[in-house]
Amino acid sequence: MIEWNEEYSVGISIIDDEHQEFIKIINGVLAAKLLNSSLDKIEELLTEMKDYAWNHFMTEESYMIEFKYPEYQYHKEEHFNFIHRVNSYCDRLLSGGYQLAKEILEFLKQWLVKHIHGTDKKYIECFVRNGLK
Ligand SMILES: [Fe+2]
Repeated sequence: MIEWNEEYSVGISIIDDEHQEFIKIINGVLAAKLLNSSLDKIEELLTEMKDYAWNHFMTEESYMIEFKYPEYQYHKEEHFNFIHRVNSYCDRLLSGGYQLAKEILEFLKQWLVKHIHGTDKKYIECFVRNGLK
């Protein structure tokens, strides 16, 4: 499980709330895997996770556009690559079985933590300067 801690905070409440929800949803997929839920169920949860991720990415990206954030293109690409990768995992899940489910979950955990710590934190200064808190 991923546990939210203050180190993940970007100090902007709408983003922190969405990140917490994102973590909760990923934990839901992790729990399903631990409980040996069917691959169909895991795929369904992954698809829900992806929909949530997409909406969350749109929240961030619309602020980036509004505030003319200089690293928008790069950031948007990271989001896009994430969605693309999850799509391709979903396509292969049924044939890849639980071994692939394990790999996917490992990827999700690492990606989210790395993305929040590395890429998201870079927009804090810009977002705060433009009035978010
Ligand atoms: Fe992001």
